[in-house]
Amino acid sequence: MCGIVAIVSHAPVAPLIVDALKRLEYRGYDSAGVATVDQGALGRRRAEGKLINLERRLAAEPLDGSIGIGHTRWATHGVPNETNAHPHFSNGVAIVHNGIIENFAALRDELRRDGYAFSSQTDTEVVAHLVARELAKGIEPVAAAHNALRRLEGAFALAIMFEGDDNLIVGARNGPPLAIGHGNNEMFLGSDAIALAPFTDSITYLEDGDWVVVRRDEARIFDIDGQPVERTRQQSIGTSFLVDKGNHRHFMEKEIHQQPEVISHTLANYLDFTTNRAKPLNLPFDFAKVDRLAIAACGTAFLAGSVGKYWFERIAKLPVDIDIASEFRYREMPLSMRSAALFVSQSGETADTLASLRYCRKAGLPIGAIVNVRESTIARESNVVLPTLAGPEIGVASTKAFTCQLSVLASLVVNAAKARGMVDDAGEEQLVRELAEAPRLASQVLKLAPQLEALGRELAHYKHVLYLGRDTSYPLAVEGALKLKEISYIHAEGYAAGELKHGPIALIDESMPVIVIAPHDRVFEKTVSNMQEVAARGGKIILITDKRGAEHATVETLQTIVLPDMPEIVAPIIYALPIQMLAYYTAVFMGTDVDQPRNLAKSVTVE
Ligand code: F6R
Repeated sequence: MCGIVAIVSHAPVAPLIVDALKRLEYRGYDSAGVATVDQGALGRRRAEGKLINLERRLAAEPLDGSIGIGHTRWATHGVPNETNAHPHFSNGVAIVHNGIIENFAALRDELRRDGYAFSSQTDTEVVAHLVARELAKGIEPVAAAHNALRRLEGAFALAIMFEGDDNLIVGARNGPPLAIGHGNNEMFLGSDAIALAPFTDSITYLEDGDWVVVRRDEARIFDIDGQPVERTRQQSIGTSFLVDKGNHRHFMEKEIHQQPEVISHTLANYLDFTTNRAKPLNLPFDFAKVDRLAIAACGTAFLAGSVGKYWFERIAKLPVDIDIASEFRYREMPLSMRSAALFVSQSGETADTLASLRYCRKAGLPIGAIVNVRESTIARESNVVLPTLAGPEIGVASTKAFTCQLSVLASLVVNAAKARGMVDDAGEEQLVRELAEAPRLASQVLKLAPQLEALGRELAHYKHVLYLGRDTSYPLAVEGALKLKEISYIHAEGYAAGELKHGPIALIDESMPVIVIAPHDRVFEKTVSNMQEVAARGGKIILITDKRGAEHATVETLQTIVLPDMPEIVAPIIYALPIQMLAYYTAVFMGTDVDQPRNLAKSVTVE
C-alpha cells in the first residue's frame, strides 16, 4: 500500500506535499515523510504515526525547496518507526516507494558486498542504493534510475529525486498505480488523481512497466526498454475537496448514515423505477449465453460477492464460483470459455483482485468490475465498469460501499434472471419493486441506533463473539465478525449456523455472546434449531431478526433487535446496517481509532 506524491514547482512544495498526503492517508497511516531539494541540498522530515505528527515536525523544522517527494506508509518490511519511514536516502538519492521489492534480499546482499550500509529494515532502501551505485559509476541520473529499475522484481510505484538537481524527478510504475498531473509550469506525481486534484485535473496514468522523467515543463514517458511511449492525457473527475465528517463523530458513522441515499442512487443507476424494469446493460457477455460466473474479491467485497452467489444461483439459475482473490490468482482454476468474470472492489486497486482480473483477461474471459473508484486500475482494465455510487468512502472499515456493491449485484441478478428466462415481466417488476424498498427500510433501521449503542456498550466487555447465519445471512455473519474485529479488536468469528455443531459449538459458554442474523426467511426454522443448541449450552444469544422472526423465535435471547419485515431480496442489504452499527458503537465505547484502525489501510496494493 502506501501513498506517494512528488512535485516539481516554483514555490515551496512541502505544504503542498502534506496536503496531497492527507488525501492518500487511506493507503496507510503508520508513518510519513517529506524530502525536498533546497539550494541543491537534500533535506527531509519524517515522523512515526499519523500525518499530524509530520505536520508538527514540519511546523517546528520547516523544509524549503520547490521540488519534493512525500510518502504515507503502511509497513510491509520493517516496523513502523521513523527510521523505516520514507523518503530513504543514499548518497544524494532520495526515494519514496509503494509496493514490495521481491528480490530485495538478494539485492541487499549484493549491495552490502559493495560496501553499502543499510540504516532501515525496509525493502525500499535497496532502490536508493542501487541508483546511488549507478551514479557513483559516473552514470547520469536518468540513466542511473533506469538501470536500477531494470534490477527490480515485484510491485512498485516509485519517485526518485536527486541532490543538486531541482528540476528532475523519475517516477516508475509496475503494479501499484501512479498518475502524472500536468500543471502550468509545474508537474506532479501521485498514487491517485484525487491526491493531485487541488493542483490539476489533467492526468496521465502510467501503465505497468512505464517510467517517467518529470521536469517542471515536461513529463517524458518510457517503457522498460527505454523507448518513448505515448499515454493518453485525460481530464480527471477526482474531487478536489477533502470530504468532511459533517456533524458525525467519525467518517464511519457518517458513511453508515449515508446508506439510504447512496443505496438509492446506486439502485437507480441500474433499475428504472418508473417502469419497474432493469435498465439495459452494455455487458461484454450475454447472461443468457454464459454457463458460469466467476467472482473474485477480497474482504468485505468478497462477502458482497458471496451474497451475490446465493442470488445468482437461486434467482437467475446461474452457477457462480466465488473466490477470495488471493486464492483465485494462484489456484490455476480451469476457466470455461462460456463463463464471464466479475470483480468487486471499493478502491479498484486491490492487488490480488487486480491480478485475478488479469488472469481471467489473459484467459480471454469477458470482465465486469463493480468498483467505487471509477478511475481505478481495476475499472480501467475491465470490459465494463459497474459503478457503485457510494461516493468517497473514507472510514477504513467498509460500510456504504458494501451495501452499494450488494445493490449492484442484486440489480445484475434481476437482469440475469430476465435474460435467462427465469422471471417473466411480472417477476422482474416485482423484484424491482422490492429492491425499491431498500432506501426506506435502511432509514428505518438507522432509527435503531440507541438500542444498538446500548448493546455495543455491553459487547465491549467480552473478549470473543460468534456470529451465525444461514443462506445469505451466512456471508453477513462473516461480515459482522469482520467489522467487529477490525475496529474494536474483539476476536470475532462468523459461521454458517448449520456448521456450529461441527466444531465451534465447543466454544459456547456464558462468556461467549452469539449474534444470530435470522430474518424470517426460508431457513428461519433451521436457524432457530441452531439457536436452541446454543441456548442449551448457556450461550448468550443476540438475535437480529424481523417482526415475524421475533414472534416465532422460540428461544430466550439476551436481546432481540427487531427490523421491519421485508422482501427476501433486500434483506442482506438492510441487515448489513445493524451489524455495522453494532461494531461501530462497540468500538466507540472502547475508544479505538474507528476510522483508521491499527495495522489496516483502505487500499491494499500489495499481495
Ligand atoms: C473491511 C474492508 C476490507 C476491504 C478489502 C477489499 O471493512 O474494507 O476487507 O473490503 O480490503 O478492498 P477493496 O474493496 O478496495 O478491493
